[in-house]
Amino acid sequence: MDLNGKHIVLGLTGGIACYKAAELCRALIKQGATVQVVMTEAAAQFITPVTMQALSNRPVFTSQWDAREPNNMPHINISREADAILIAPCSADFMAKLLHGRADDLLSLMCLARPMDRVPLLIAPAMNREMWAHPATQRNMTQLKADGATLLGVGNGLQACGETGDGRMLEPQELLQDVIAFFQPKVLAGHHVLVTAGPTFEAIDPVRGITNLSSGKMGFAVARAAQEAGATVTLIAGPVALATPRGVSRIDVVSAQEMLDACLRQAPLASVFVATAAVADWRPENSAQQKIKKDGSGQVPQLGFVENPDILATLAKSARATSGALYCVGFAAESHDLLAHATAKRARKNVPLLVGNIGPATFGQDDNALLLVDVNGSREIPRNNKLALARQLVADIAARLASATA
Ligand code: CTP
Repeated sequence: MDLNGKHIVLGLTGGIACYKAAELCRALIKQGATVQVVMTEAAAQFITPVTMQALSNRPVFTSQWDAREPNNMPHINISREADAILIAPCSADFMAKLLHGRADDLLSLMCLARPMDRVPLLIAPAMNREMWAHPATQRNMTQLKADGATLLGVGNGLQACGETGDGRMLEPQELLQDVIAFFQPKVLAGHHVLVTAGPTFEAIDPVRGITNLSSGKMGFAVARAAQEAGATVTLIAGPVALATPRGVSRIDVVSAQEMLDACLRQAPLASVFVATAAVADWRPENSAQQKIKKDGSGQVPQLGFVENPDILATLAKSARATSGALYCVGFAAESHDLLAHATAKRARKNVPLLVGNIGPATFGQDDNALLLVDVNGSREIPRNNKLALARQLVADIAARLASATA
């Protein structure tokens, strides 16, 4: 669980998005966090403290005069326990209040009283689109960031008032991902990571093609882990139906040639390239413009194949990679003799790091085991879920980059 051991103070202020805070509270707890809910008087107009108490399994605090605390200082006690204070939803009014350091209710008092060096403040704004676009709100947002708060952004869409635009609170699962990412070490800050993921699809005709069983899960996990580690991430994905990780730019492609073209366009911006895609090795020599029909004779079409370009080897040969500006990491999907094949493949593709895995044992699964092979030998990352493996791989890559520049 990604939030094991974390204690989150979840602050609710007045807004219809309070209904989403109930789901968020559950989601945080499911990931192992303990949650202390603090609500403003306005928030209690939208959702009852009873609901939030039942979901968080803790009494909710709503007043700075709450006598349940022996020293009668809930703002001190609650803020000192927290690993983070998350205000979701944060109204326009509450943002203005925080900005001025006002402290006339428990939540704002607690935000002001928090030890800034160890209790971060995360803000998930929620308001009507005009309120969000207002120069006062935008100004407040800029100043709150300058004062050290983390602004989690807003969603776009239909609002409770019937208008459509920016200002909706992010969905609970989006906020959950942002909170989890917030706690990850920013070992790739300043890097731009390019990741390929999934299979490619090579058309035989408009309705048929050849592909493979890659699910894309490992590549999507690598993209997410790199984003959590503070990198700018571009994910070039073959045909898969996975959700794009938060904060990652995604480019969808179909064939190996399209994947190569997209990689060549993006590579000049990147400092790290991780090739997790299971690129089809061959494509039909000719792709028919129209569906190939059976002619009733029992004859089967004769398909010729040509080899696809090797995307990893192409990028590893580029001037950017050979000059050290682009660090290339390959994957190797093998069915047997993993160490021998991965070692040979690393040399053949001329990359500093190659990650071996047993393809048939992992395609489509949520877990995997990795074998990291470099010029000095190999190291195993034992079986785990793909996100946990991706985080370890990202930490390993970051350490290699840091030692290369040290
Ligand atoms: N790769 C690539 N372009 C290709 C083939 C592979 O970029 N046309 C990359 C993969 O993304 C992976 C690495 O090269 O990072 C190794 O891929 P893999 O399928 O294991 O090996 P192949 O190069 O296809 O070799 P073989 O089929 O002989 O195992």
